[in-house]
Amino acid sequence: MSESYVAAIDQGTTSTRCLVFDHHGRLVALAQQQHTQHFPRPGWVEHDAAEIWRIVQRLLPEALRNGGLDASQIVSLGLTNQRETVVVWDRLTGEPVTPAIVWQDTRTGPLLPRIAAEMDATSIHERTGLPLATYFTGPKLRWLLESDEDLRRRAEAGELLLGTMDTWLLWNLTGGVRGGVHSTDVTNASRTMLMNLQTLQWDPELLAVMRVPRAALPQIRPTLGDHGTTTDPVAGIPVRAVIGDQQASLFGQTAFESGEAKCTFGTGAFLLLNTGTQPVASSHGLVTTVAHQIEGEPTVYALEGSVAIAGALVEWCRESLGLIRSPAEIETLATSVDDNGGCFVVPAFAGLYAPHWESRAQGIVAGLTAYITKGHIARAVLEAVALQTQEVLAAMNSDAGLALRSVAVDGGMTSNNLLMQTVADLLDVPVVRPMMAETVALGAAYAAGLAAGYWSDQQVLRRQWHRAAEWSPAMEPARRAEMLERWSRAIELSVAWGR
Ligand code: G3P
Repeated sequence: MSESYVAAIDQGTTSTRCLVFDHHGRLVALAQQQHTQHFPRPGWVEHDAAEIWRIVQRLLPEALRNGGLDASQIVSLGLTNQRETVVVWDRLTGEPVTPAIVWQDTRTGPLLPRIAAEMDATSIHERTGLPLATYFTGPKLRWLLESDEDLRRRAEAGELLLGTMDTWLLWNLTGGVRGGVHSTDVTNASRTMLMNLQTLQWDPELLAVMRVPRAALPQIRPTLGDHGTTTDPVAGIPVRAVIGDQQASLFGQTAFESGEAKCTFGTGAFLLLNTGTQPVASSHGLVTTVAHQIEGEPTVYALEGSVAIAGALVEWCRESLGLIRSPAEIETLATSVDDNGGCFVVPAFAGLYAPHWESRAQGIVAGLTAYITKGHIARAVLEAVALQTQEVLAAMNSDAGLALRSVAVDGGMTSNNLLMQTVADLLDVPVVRPMMAETVALGAAYAAGLAAGYWSDQQVLRRQWHRAAEWSPAMEPARRAEMLERWSRAIELSVAWGR
């Protein structure tokens, strides 16, 4: 019999990847492609969901070809995705009827006080685990349905389907207009601000506040379980896991136990701590979220420190400023100087997320003098990523009443040694990276493989985690304290600027 494998589709903010893994969790095939980012107005970020689906249609067969594999060898597929981004499409034509509003988009800022007047932010937080912020899906849906009377009418008449990116892709993968599965999983649903974190179902009062018709929403299913079988672009592959990308990387790092954490450095930076089978409410600006749910088992929760802008800042230096030609160059430029020369960059492009939740904050560069060079700016850019991570780690320690002794990291930015050293220095804990840095896709594959019985249990997966690199803190305490103090002043300026 030919060998069998597990596949993952990782639909991220900037690119989509399709990967195939073997029984040892080794990558055997990969195909990836970027999609277009649309910034039609300041603060607006949109994707074309039809473009993303076309990319998935191309990548899945391409990954199989690259690995010399036949679809029949894929025993299970895991789907993981950028979370919160909303897609609205026509049930009959299968075409999106609006641009997808991306999680980073801040257009709902002015809407938030009106939402709070109908249900106060504390009550929303208690029900959903989420602060009332532009980040989440519910306010985006209300904005869409309020901004177009025809859209609202069609949604209420049952002509439209609503969902996050996982739902859009799953529906298309499993048949689309010919009977695609219209569902989501609890991890994705927990990011919508429409799901009650206790019942794990759509909350009728939240739906009323966000003006969302229940019939247009997908069914909420466990993360690991039966999500249907593909018909397109390759038929016959069972989809056995759907999971938000940050929860997927927690799974891929095999952080299955309460107290285990990871931080992924991608477009944003996301620190998640597994808190076990009870949701822990944050009093320090973190998000309470579902880590995963295995059919028939208790739900596992996490505390999350979400940082909107990490790799996106380096990308902005390349694309918008022309400061560097490739992301890797930021490290070379930053190491051309000894320190930041007194310069701090606060990248509040999407307002500030955890722990501040200041939707109106705007980005600033502070401490400019004639002494400052490109090198100092590059250094301040990397420090901004590390300083934001330090803030969410401090909040996590306060919320969980513990001091994390090390942080497992993953994501594209972990190849930047200077950044990882700066993270270790500012967090004051060792930072460890596993051999397999593609933990989002690996986590989706692990979830899909476990659900299909490809792997027998989580312990098998734990044994496949191998350390590749470690960075130890080496910064003088006084220097760290000074950096943190200046950073908090820069944050205050960024908030004040947006008022
Ligand atoms: O919540 C947003 C997050 O899911 C985006 O992750 O890796 O696509 O930037 P990424």
